[in-house]
Amino acid sequence: MAKYKIAVLPGDGVGIEVIEAAKIVLDEIALDAEYLHGDIGWEFWCTEGDPLPKRTIDLLKNTDCCLFGAITSKPKEESEKELVPELQGKGLAYYSPIVGLRQMFNLYANLRPARAYPGNPLNYRDDIDLVIFRENTEGLYSGVEFFPLPEEIKSALVKHHTKMAKFKDVPARDIALSSRLFTVEGCERIVKRAFEYARRKKRPTVTVVEKPNVLRETSGLMVRTARRIQKDYPEIELWEANIDAMCMWLVKNPQNYSVLVSSNMFGDIISDLSGQLVGGLGFAAGANIGDDYAVFEPVHGSAPKYFGQYKVNPTATLQAVRLMLEWLGEEEKADRLDRAIALNIKENKIKTYDVGGASTTLEVAKNIAKFYKQG
Ligand code: NAI
Ligand code: MG
Repeated sequence: MAKYKIAVLPGDGVGIEVIEAAKIVLDEIALDAEYLHGDIGWEFWCTEGDPLPKRTIDLLKNTDCCLFGAITSKPKEESEKELVPELQGKGLAYYSPIVGLRQMFNLYANLRPARAYPGNPLNYRDDIDLVIFRENTEGLYSGVEFFPLPEEIKSALVKHHTKMAKFKDVPARDIALSSRLFTVEGCERIVKRAFEYARRKKRPTVTVVEKPNVLRETSGLMVRTARRIQKDYPEIELWEANIDAMCMWLVKNPQNYSVLVSSNMFGDIISDLSGQLVGGLGFAAGANIGDDYAVFEPVHGSAPKYFGQYKVNPTATLQAVRLMLEWLGEEEKADRLDRAIALNIKENKIKTYDVGGASTTLEVAKNIAKFYKQG
């Protein structure tokens, strides 16, 4: 029996093409693994009314981790229209299967590295090496939202919070509310992840990115938690930055920062900002990590306008493979893949359109596999 069981979910559009590229490189890496393909995405929404069928969830439960391509998603009305006729009018609602996976497997840490590979013409600067830990299950994206606001919630808020006085006379039906829910456990586990990573990788600082001067209770909890946990990591400095100022600093002096930790929405924002500093969607990958399962993915979506052309950059997905190898404890293979990716970029010959080339997705993958083979 193979050492690892890995679920592979290509999904839709170019997701299928970048996963094909990843398989070329994985074949060269020859990990002692069994790869199990699963169904996810738009096709299964249209034909079965579920973009994440139960058989796929069962498959994931039977594996060590998952490599995911990308899916297509569409707004509510459009989704409904594309269902096969026999599923229409049954009140089925589309939900994002990747958000579903994060919640179902409690993948609370979203790890997003942003490193400038030498020679990448898209680098904003050549000395950027950031790693972002974004809380992935709570905060403003926890989905606890109301519109209209139920009457009893409005009156409870008026009763318990003096700041509600100014909304007292607004009818509940005219109030929308999205809650920013943080838990002590949620803050602790993401901050610990960031510090553990910094210790393992000998990184000098962890910056907590919040807004505690305004969001006193939620951001305040995150920052206080970070101060407390830092005491267990005396060799690592804790820096504190406000989200708005951090967006300026990341443009002004990104090279000064190392590990960043933040809540769900702020982490989302700095992840995209940081990703664009080092090449954008063709390069950005993320890992969704829980205590005993993880899903690895490129950040980009299904890019329908390029589907079928094998044009998009597979580097983001190969970065996801690198993160997966590292998470599995295959550090040597992870480092070797990282060197192969770096050599492909430095050579600057076999490259996709986003980097100014005309090579195909699979040609880039084959070149990276060749460099991997050479060690
Ligand atoms: P997208 O990420 O699919 O593509 C946006 C643009 O970025 C592309 O048109 C292309 O110019 C560029 N791009 C994306 N990946 C690239 C790559 N590997 N190499 C080079 N260039 C690349 O975002 P878009 O167009 O907003 O969404 C398309 C579909 O994907 C939608 O249905 C959306 O809901 C879904 N989506 C899915 C995600 C996921 O599966 N995690 C994430 C984002 C969007
Ligand atoms: Mg995002």
